[in-house]
Amino acid sequence: MERTVYVNGKYLPESQASVSVFDRGFLFADAVYEVTAVLDGKLIDQAGHLARLKRSATELGMVLPCSEQELIQIHHQLIEKNQLVEGGIYLQLTRGNEGDRDFSFSDGIKPTLVLFTQARNLIENDTAQQGIKVISVEDIRWRRRDIKTTCLLPACLAKHIAHQAGADDVWMLENGVVTEGGSSNAYIVDQLGRVITRPLSQDILHGITRASLLQMAQDLDITIIERPFTLQEAYAAQEAFISSATAFVWPVIAIDEHRIGGGQPGPVARKLREIYIEIARSRAI
Ligand code: PDD
Repeated sequence: MERTVYVNGKYLPESQASVSVFDRGFLFADAVYEVTAVLDGKLIDQAGHLARLKRSATELGMVLPCSEQELIQIHHQLIEKNQLVEGGIYLQLTRGNEGDRDFSFSDGIKPTLVLFTQARNLIENDTAQQGIKVISVEDIRWRRRDIKTTCLLPACLAKHIAHQAGADDVWMLENGVVTEGGSSNAYIVDQLGRVITRPLSQDILHGITRASLLQMAQDLDITIIERPFTLQEAYAAQEAFISSATAFVWPVIAIDEHRIGGGQPGPVARKLREIYIEIARSRAI
């Protein structure tokens, strides 16, 4: 069945939805995006995703084409029109198009807004049960990783290399220190059961799942240490895991040739996944 997608104010069958070849999102990746999880037909951590969208747009001098309330309505309309129960909604906002290819742009171009749904099993998910294997790669992305732009070629290439090597994803490194997963935030658990994750800065995306998860972990009296950690520390960790809107929490059971936690998902990652799903689900709108 064809999905209904949203393009600039219109709900269209996906085969009829299109964007101009001169759109700056297409020509220059001059665009920001969000992915919001859907459970039970409701939006997970919606307020956080909208706040980050607004921040990403502002950092690049773009303006949202409609109010936050209207954006929520569009999400809900798409869930309804596509009968989406579980999965995600992808939103992309580009600077728009000025009818030609030119690096520079005028202020106040009409932005392009596209949203579509993706049906996925987020809860009953084999990867979540089994955990993932990652390989380490150099982080070759730009220096404003806190802005959620569609400049995702480094992540696409890195994930492709991981798949070719028989792994599921990557952890990215800068000077021997882990920045993030390919499309997730990265965590290790030390021998004392403390969760270690890189602090927020322009070096990493400020994960919405991360923010909720850290709050929930604190409420569970799990010690969180926000500091950079090295690849060597990760190799020796008791557990490792990632978080994102599409994974929630997935255990990492191997990094390069090192098995983590005996190659099995660990109790901290399992507990955090359970808690995140329970609480985020109860707050969904
Ligand atoms: N990616 N870091 C990077 C580089 C990411 O691409 C993502 C999410 C995250 C986690 O952020 P959040 O918890 O807000 O999803 C961290 C999405 C899921 C994607 O690109 O599909």
